[in-house]
Amino acid sequence: RPRVLSGIQPTAGSFHLGNYLGAVRQWVALQEAHDAFYCVVDLHAITVEQNPKELRQNTRVSAAQLLALGIDPDRATLFVQSHVPEHAQLGWVMQCLTGFGEASRMTQFKDKSSRSEAAVGVGLFTYPILQAADILLYQAHYVPVGEDQRQHLELTRDLATRFNSRYGKTFRLPEAYIVKDTAKIFDLQDPTAKMSKSVPGGVVELLEDPKRSAKKIRSAVTDTGREIIFDVENKPGVSNLLTIYSALTGRTVESLVADYDGKGYGDLKKDLGEVFTEWVTPVQERVRMYLDDVASLDKILARGAERAREVAAGTLRRTYDKIGFILPE
Ligand code: TYM
Repeated sequence: RPRVLSGIQPTAGSFHLGNYLGAVRQWVALQEAHDAFYCVVDLHAITVEQNPKELRQNTRVSAAQLLALGIDPDRATLFVQSHVPEHAQLGWVMQCLTGFGEASRMTQFKDKSSRSEAAVGVGLFTYPILQAADILLYQAHYVPVGEDQRQHLELTRDLATRFNSRYGKTFRLPEAYIVKDTAKIFDLQDPTAKMSKSVPGGVVELLEDPKRSAKKIRSAVTDTGREIIFDVENKPGVSNLLTIYSALTGRTVESLVADYDGKGYGDLKKDLGEVFTEWVTPVQERVRMYLDDVASLDKILARGAERAREVAAGTLRRTYDKIGFILPE
């Protein structure tokens, strides 16, 4: 079975609708026919300052959300990145292979560092290199992510190619698995910017009170005119709502457009608020259930880490050997 790997940051606690539609939904689908590895990337989270108590809690909240959203720990390997030390170890190897200029071209670093008021750490700069190690350790064929991760996937392939040509074939070249329709969910207040926790505004959080989400959806910025049609160029707000509506209900955008013919933006937004509430309510219940039993949750993560380590340790050993390290007995 083809391998899949992806990761999500625990930084914010609650995932947002962009995380779900852009990535986690695909994780759930792919676990059926793939050998899937999904991790909560706590090492990545400390690239910006974290409160230790909150980080610990948010890591569990993230794992609970993944389970609640449909990741099945008997099918997929669900784990916490710091439980598998090989990530940091291969990360170092990859850092030594990366050009300074190459790392400097990563747009997410430029965005994040320019927005940050706090001092920017070197970890934020080398972040994508650790991500490359995450992926290469598992010899992943596919990496399900949103559009914003495409450049990091390119870097990963470049590093794998470089290592392979220098030391002999070691790593598989992974492919980004990006579902076009939902690859970029936009902010409800600024439908030209991606929905993101670091840009406050129209972000729908999975763990907030659904009443609040429904209100955000009702007050989403729509466009001039009154027609409900899918036109990303001229009607980014309405198109974003149609994308979300379609993804949450499984109905095609065309059938929604036909249904809303003659109706107004207000109807669309009110209905989408209800659709979201209906979808998220049982998800929240399941999250609560997983968090009510932290011992069992931690056991699931420990089992995942054990499975992940088997694969990761094999890759790291081969890598060390190729480089010329003396392998310990
Ligand atoms: P993170 O935690 O920021 O986001 C998790 C996933 O959500 C996707 N995403 C979106 N998709 C569509 N529309 C949006 N508005 C939107 N916002 C976020 C992201 O593309 C991502 O797939 N660097 C990664 C974490 C990571 C990782 C990895 C991913 C670490 N190691 C290895 C894949 C493989 C990140 O910051 O994702």
